[in-house]
Amino acid sequence: MTKIDYGVDAPKVIRNLCLIAVILFGSSVVFPVFRIGGITINVLSFDLCCGSTCLLFGLLMLMYAKIGKFKHCDRMLKLINWTGNETVLDIGTGRGLLMIGAAKKLSSGKSVGIDIWNKEDLSNNSAVKTMLNAELEGVKDRIEIKDENILHTNFEDNFFDVVLTNLCLHNIYNKEGRMQACKEIHRILKPQVIAIISDFKHINEYKKEFLNSGMTVAKIGTFYFDTFPPLTIIKAVKN
Ligand SMILES: C[S@@+](CC[C@H](N)C(=O)[O-])C[C@H]1O[C@@H](n2cnc3c(N)ncnc32)[C@H](O)[C@@H]1O
Repeated sequence: MTKIDYGVDAPKVIRNLCLIAVILFGSSVVFPVFRIGGITINVLSFDLCCGSTCLLFGLLMLMYAKIGKFKHCDRMLKLINWTGNETVLDIGTGRGLLMIGAAKKLSSGKSVGIDIWNKEDLSNNSAVKTMLNAELEGVKDRIEIKDENILHTNFEDNFFDVVLTNLCLHNIYNKEGRMQACKEIHRILKPQVIAIISDFKHINEYKKEFLNSGMTVAKIGTFYFDTFPPLTIIKAVKN
């Protein structure tokens, strides 16, 4: 039976953390001490400590993907005063978590998800799987999925009533690109409405670029208990 599945974020990072942990635990058993010349170094506690840290980080990332991200998505959606008529954009929608969450708040509005479907960023990342989630969640008629890169979208100026994005912008690896993405968000957002940005790094860069565009920016908070790496949310309003 097909089930709703919102995927695992950064699956290779989780796999590598677990592999490193296994290698370090293994080497602590096989080579508890290390000899160079006449010196004996006890590496047991170092291996155990680093191995446990890697395993813990891997497990926390998995817990976020399986439990925490649903709470975080609700937290982001609660920041909007929904009327039900909004045209919403979820940037880097992946398997559709925020796009579908927003669609559930709509009556006559539309929730649009854009992505470049990078499989390193999210497991089984594809428009087909996302559409299947929307169908299973009963919101297929209120969503639209597009292959678009946030660096240059085909949307008109002042098009969206709400822009949302979670864990996407840091995947743009150069600062100029991230700045361009913030400019694009500003361009496609209607005046007087809100963009909610959530990410685990570069938050100050985003804030600065939105302020440079003349937006009003407020930090909502950093959430240490149910997100990993801890995610920070900012709210930017176009003036
Ligand atoms: C870690 S996933 C998060 C998915 C979803 N937002 C969530 O919270 O479950 C990051 C997503 O951003 C997408 N992405 C990365 N760079 C992008 C870009 N320049 N434009 C649009 N999407 C992008 C990836 O393909 C991936 O689906």
